Amino acid sequence: MNTVLPAIVLIFSLCHQAISIENKFPDDFLFGVASSAYQIEGGHDKRGETVLDHYQRLDPSIISDSSDAKIACDSYHKYHEDINLLEYLGVDFYRFSISWPRILPTGYSNKINPDGIRYYNNLIDGLISKNITPMVTIFHYDLPKPLQDLGGWFNPTTADLFEDYSKILFKNFGDRVKFWITLNANTWGYADPMFPPMLNLSGLGEYLCYKTILLAHAKAYHLYKKEFRDEQKGQVGLTIDGRWYHPATTSTNDIEAAERVREFLIGTLANPIFGEGDFPKVVKERVAELSHKENFLKSRLPQLSPEEVDFIKGSYDFLGLNSYTTYLIKDDRSKDNWDSFSESKDLGAKLYQDPEWPGSLSDWLKVVPWGLRGVLKWVKDKYNNPPVFITENGFSDSGELEDEGRIQYYKLHLEALLEAIHEDGVNVKGYAAWSLLDNFEWMVGYSEKFGLFHVDFSDPARPRTPKSSARWYKSFLTRRHLAAAAAKTEL
Ligand code: NOJ
Repeated sequence: MNTVLPAIVLIFSLCHQAISIENKFPDDFLFGVASSAYQIEGGHDKRGETVLDHYQRLDPSIISDSSDAKIACDSYHKYHEDINLLEYLGVDFYRFSISWPRILPTGYSNKINPDGIRYYNNLIDGLISKNITPMVTIFHYDLPKPLQDLGGWFNPTTADLFEDYSKILFKNFGDRVKFWITLNANTWGYADPMFPPMLNLSGLGEYLCYKTILLAHAKAYHLYKKEFRDEQKGQVGLTIDGRWYHPATTSTNDIEAAERVREFLIGTLANPIFGEGDFPKVVKERVAELSHKENFLKSRLPQLSPEEVDFIKGSYDFLGLNSYTTYLIKDDRSKDNWDSFSESKDLGAKLYQDPEWPGSLSDWLKVVPWGLRGVLKWVKDKYNNPPVFITENGFSDSGELEDEGRIQYYKLHLEALLEAIHEDGVNVKGYAAWSLLDNFEWMVGYSEKFGLFHVDFSDPARPRTPKSSARWYKSFLTRRHLAAAAAKTEL
């Protein structure tokens, strides 16, 4: 009998098994791409003014290339083309955001813009007609300017106005949208003068925003649960920044400092919702201790009342993580003097990146795939393994069509993701590459590009061209497994 054939069959089936176990994503795993309204839509004359529009109009030089997002990728007019690009890629879902001032030009719920509703209806219907699941972010940094006049995220009323805005979205789109991300949560601009509203209020600014963001999220979650979930059967989550913070050395001080930084920069939003409730213990203790030394009568960290803690706790169906990079953490409480305060002093640590790590065009974005595994494992252990979506992961360059750096970045991060799923048992449900298109990258304008598709911003027609990474992602999505791991991403 010929023994060669069975041997070949055996080898083939072993290889196949290796693919199916180690290199393959679970069958129900969802792949997508992500974008945000302000960064791609343009059509600024068909919506209300945002905080960034306002500051950019006063001083165009706040954007490093003095550009603006008035037209951006013109997705407001070219959404059909975007849908075709998504179909070309073969994604399961498209994460996009709805522009608050496009639906409610003044921010308030008393005046709804019918063209805004029509635009998103068309986009959602177009996606569904191609079998692409819409995943909608309700808020991605584009606060209507009139709400900033009331204090923006410093004012708890913004949480109520956010709830009203969410209700309008659930009512109009919830029959077709089954994944809602309440906020792409961030405190930019309230504690960092580089981003509108340009407030340099660190040490109070972040914490006030965190409280309003938590209340806004929980209000929208409970509203959905009470009035829409039974009929619409969707899920509601929150996206937070999933940078990884790794101890610089194995000293106990650095290990503790890294954990402290994680609790401040991840836990302050995550613990109240996904964890035991309330702000993390170490955050409460450290801010109280420093505030006391600084002569404050109370902690700078606002309190959550017992009712608020209960209301916020457990208000999720999934956790969204935006994951790009990693920082090394060195214990550093030397800055503990009592005549000034900031969140960075509250951290009591130095954050830096290893100059040896490969970079991208963005100075903050170093390529550290094992950091993705690190943050996923931490979230799993800390918060009892919640369902997680990677809602953003991506790499910047200057927009070249042969974007090998981006392909490598995605490959390495997908490998780390597989290890997180198979070796660490993290409950990851999906992954979105940032971003579909080159787009308006906030304060650096169009100078740093993250797209799978190139956009020619000098051409009024804003033509889109697939980069090598678009072809790579498309071909990956037909297989949904990676070739044998190129490099292990051990922690
Ligand atoms: C995260 C933000 O959500 C997104 O708007 C931004 O473009 C990317 N980071 C890249 O900086």
